[in-house]
Amino acid sequence: MKIAHISDIHAAEAYFLPELAENVIAKLNELEPEILVVTGDLTIGGYPHEFERARRFIDRIACEVSLVIPGNHDVRNLGYLGFETIFGPRSKVERYREVTLVGIDSAQPDLDEGHVGREKYEWLERCLTHHPDDLNVVALHHHVIPVPKTGRELNILTDAGDLLELLMRCHVDLVLCGHKHVPWVWNLDGMVIVNAGTVCSNRVKWQIPQSFNLIELDDRKRGAIDIFRISARGEQELVFSRGHEEEDAV
Ligand SMILES: [Fe+2]
Ligand SMILES: [Fe+2]
Repeated sequence: MKIAHISDIHAAEAYFLPELAENVIAKLNELEPEILVVTGDLTIGGYPHEFERARRFIDRIACEVSLVIPGNHDVRNLGYLGFETIFGPRSKVERYREVTLVGIDSAQPDLDEGHVGREKYEWLERCLTHHPDDLNVVALHHHVIPVPKTGRELNILTDAGDLLELLMRCHVDLVLCGHKHVPWVWNLDGMVIVNAGTVCSNRVKWQIPQSFNLIELDDRKRGAIDIFRISARGEQELVFSRGHEEEDAV
């Protein structure tokens, strides 16, 4: 099963790169992911025309199920209302085959820092334990662990410690984040935390081009995961792999 993870579309005139967006759409449709996860920052100012452009982009990516959550930019200027109108609830749970996907809104109006909040913990725990044999995937915009090459630490979840403890306790397999526009993977005692870059905006840092993640789950072997970083120009790199040790040994 394939999960495509894209983030930080920033679909405003001054930042969105249509030519790269076309490349990404073509590449994703060629890869045929079953699940699409979009970890926020669809817009710059939470304005209606930005949401519409982001929606047109997302709608052209074929998949069985998609999970879209807001970022800090999307809840500016009452953007959280626009987000709900176009993409539905800001926090939500989906299930596809034996994969439980939980999207958490970590954004707060007119603040850049992330926050999940104790009021969501009970709901989150229920979602993550309802199907005990499922592979659990959690998506949120803000990073839960600092990401290299992002300078002085800012905007990390204010309740990152409590959230991490909850996710570990509920045996979450994958955590998907965006926000810093720097792709990275951390393996925290078996819980794989995957950050995505910006997919097709010009808001890139030096030498960190636009990219997205493709996560391949082995249907025959629970926990076997390959993660590819794919640049918007199409270069592909395997950045994480686990669970194939026995096969390799044979
Ligand atoms: Fe962003
Ligand atoms: Fe952000």
